[in-house]
Amino acid sequence: MGDARILIVALVALFAFDRRFVHANFANDTVPSWGAQNVRISADGENLTLTLNNQTGCRIDTINRFMFGSIEMHIKLVAGNSAGTVTSYYMSSDGSAHDEIDFEFLGNSTGQPYIIHTNVYAQGIGNKEQQFYPWFDPTSGSHNYTIHWNPSEIVWFVDGTPIRVFRNYETLGIPYPSKQAMKAYSSIWNGEGWATEGGRVKIDWRSAPFVAGYARLGLRACVWNDSQCVSTYPSSTLAPDQRTQMATIRDSYMIYDYCRDTTRFDGKTPPECSQPQY
Ligand SMILES: *[C@@H]1O[C@H](CO)[C@@H](O)[C@H](O)[C@H]1NC(C)=O
Ligand SMILES: *[C@@H]1O[C@H](CO)[C@@H](O)[C@H](O)[C@H]1NC(C)=O
Ligand SMILES: *[C@@H]1O[C@H](CO)[C@@H](O)[C@H](O)[C@H]1NC(C)=O
Ligand SMILES: *[C@@H]1O[C@H](CO)[C@@H](O)[C@H](O)[C@H]1NC(C)=O
Ligand SMILES: *[C@@H]1O[C@H](CO)[C@@H](O)[C@H](O)[C@H]1NC(C)=O
Ligand SMILES: *[C@@H]1O[C@H](CO)[C@@H](O)[C@H](O)[C@H]1NC(C)=O
Repeated sequence: MGDARILIVALVALFAFDRRFVHANFANDTVPSWGAQNVRISADGENLTLTLNNQTGCRIDTINRFMFGSIEMHIKLVAGNSAGTVTSYYMSSDGSAHDEIDFEFLGNSTGQPYIIHTNVYAQGIGNKEQQFYPWFDPTSGSHNYTIHWNPSEIVWFVDGTPIRVFRNYETLGIPYPSKQAMKAYSSIWNGEGWATEGGRVKIDWRSAPFVAGYARLGLRACVWNDSQCVSTYPSSTLAPDQRTQMATIRDSYMIYDYCRDTTRFDGKTPPECSQPQY
């Protein structure tokens, strides 16, 4: 897709927002792709639970692929002892040099904080993690986790507050997810090898089954039909007050930033880290 076409789609999006794709339904718009026996969709298709038990975890995929969009999901994380479990909500393309945008929720022992883990892969390369503690109890109710992806930036939103931006610096030769359409995925899996305190705390199967609740899937995204976009997506960018909100959250709740992890990359941080972040 050429830059000119991206620009036209973005301009069209400002004026002709296609509401057909706003509200999605799990029964009609997603399909289980792993551990189907642990996927439960409510009769009206509006709510979903994903369960990890001693047999398997599970995953659902959107049927459509998207090229840019705002993909919204409300999630109630596993309550109680969730140590070693990973609940996720992410977008990904296929193949070896894939693109991916992640929200992963790393469980913890009862009373200990979850970690909201974010990452982005461009052309198969990840290693761009940022992690946050939630400023609320993510297990007592549903919260809005939205991935906003457009040609100029990716924004991770939690309950309407942006927590991270990854900007497009392709003009500086830095890979950005801009050429591969992605599906949205939701899953729960056994991550005890790394999830909780770096893999020190294992799953206690006496606490199983581990159940995460999903609702209000919203696909304000451009549907990709294998050759082009056949709808539009919101192209909005952050307002100044949202940037201020984000800075406040990052000051208080960010617990890991790959851009500050100098020991990890032989003393050098990746090139995007020396550019404006948002
Ligand atoms: C799901 O698809 C069925 C069959 O096409 C349709 O009758 C129904 O209205 C759809 N439900 C929703 C919530 O979109
Ligand atoms: C798996 O969980 C089921 C249900 O709680 C239990 O009956 C079974 O013994 C467990 N199996 C193993 C191998 O732990
Ligand atoms: C969820 O968050 C997104 C991003 O801020 C926002 O556009 C959307 O309106 C929110 N949804 C609800 C139901 O508030
Ligand atoms: C779990 O709780 C411990 C102790 O409070 C904390 O150090 C850790 O960061 C928490 N989160 C994870 C995912 O390990
Ligand atoms: C569906 O999810 C919404 C939002 O989390 C929640 O308010 C509602 O009670 C759920 N409905 C069912 C049937 O679980
Ligand atoms: C995609 O949509 C365009 C425009 O509607 C159409 O011309 C093209 O044939 C479609 N391609 C596929 C693979 O469906």
